[in-house]
Amino acid sequence: MEEKAKSFEELKPMLRPTGVEPGIMKVDPEKCTSCGLCIQNCPFKCLEMDEDEHPKMKSGCVCISCSNCIVACPVDALSIERVYTVKGGFFDTETPAVKMPMPPKDADGTPAEWNEVERVVLERRSVRHYKKKPVPEPLLTRVLEAGRFAPSGGNHQPWKFTVVTDPEFIAELEATLHGFWSGVYPVFNNDETVMNMVGVVETGVFDPRTQYGIRCIALKELPVYLGAPVIVYMGAHTKLNNPALTIGICGQNMNIVANSLGLGACWTNFGAVPLNAMPELKQRLGFGEEWTVVTALVLGYPKFKQFGMVARHYRPVTWFRPGTKTPQTEK
Ligand SMILES: Cc1cc2nc3c(=O)[nH]c(=O)nc-3n(C[C@H](O)[C@H](O)[C@H](O)COP(=O)(O)O)c2cc1C
Ligand code: SF4
Ligand code: SF4
Repeated sequence: MEEKAKSFEELKPMLRPTGVEPGIMKVDPEKCTSCGLCIQNCPFKCLEMDEDEHPKMKSGCVCISCSNCIVACPVDALSIERVYTVKGGFFDTETPAVKMPMPPKDADGTPAEWNEVERVVLERRSVRHYKKKPVPEPLLTRVLEAGRFAPSGGNHQPWKFTVVTDPEFIAELEATLHGFWSGVYPVFNNDETVMNMVGVVETGVFDPRTQYGIRCIALKELPVYLGAPVIVYMGAHTKLNNPALTIGICGQNMNIVANSLGLGACWTNFGAVPLNAMPELKQRLGFGEEWTVVTALVLGYPKFKQFGMVARHYRPVTWFRPGTKTPQTEK
């Protein structure tokens, strides 16, 4: 077993990472109509209006370069000036440049169009603003069936779903989960108490993006369930294999089908993982002792446009082609 580090100083590179360069967005003032949709659609509330009624970056925020501001802008006035990156320190995980999706070609290499499935996959973005309108149950059933028919190692099918559409219960869940995170936030913030989290949570939870997410939830800048009319909890049986991977596949099947039906969706680990420390509520949601709540997906009709293709990191692919003795790595 790995020996546990004992002092804050030893753990500091992970707990208080250095070298973080948050993303920076650029606004074209000639195009901007001051509608404010980009400000609204930023999950971490990184943007605010300047004195000329154009958005500018707030100081001290952690922009994760998700491009959700870009897709909400009706006049294409936003672009990435600098991508979120970490240079040196614990979380320097080599972040290469970002690229838009490579244009599609047919089997002969001739330029082609995206097909419908590709469009849904590439244009899907996390939706965090919903209409009050309920989602009809027949559509929810189609979404859930997409999850049930996901592949799983050995056909284990370790999943179980709970759907909440009752607005009163959603409000209660929002209050409970917000209470949890507002209790956790000061622990993370404090150099003495953050040590208690080491070994309890995975190292990725200390990534500045997750730590900033905890802050945003605690300060009510990011609602846990995003005001959505539907929550789908996804549990995995603890005796079955590979729960996180399998539920991930299952949930993304649901996400894609929800988008294909005109719905928006967003994963919410913040709204799911803490339930494992709340046995009564977990049980009430239908997950007994032998079930882990892995994640949740919220769903609903998007309030405004929140889809579109965006750039993502591109890690060059290594190919072993027929007749080549050495691998070829893309540039
Ligand atoms: C496993 C997982 C958990 C996530 N949890 C949350 C969450 O709790 N709250 C949230 O607003 N977004 C959450 N997200 C959404 C991510 O922030 C989002 O996928 C990422 O920024 C990329 O943006 P995109 O989905 O629009 O492409 C989660 C995503 C995944 C895959
Ligand atoms: S890229 Fe994402 S995090 Fe950054 S300002 Fe835009 S919406 Fe916010
Ligand atoms: S969404 Fe576009 S037009 Fe609206 S305020 Fe932002 S940059 Fe300006």
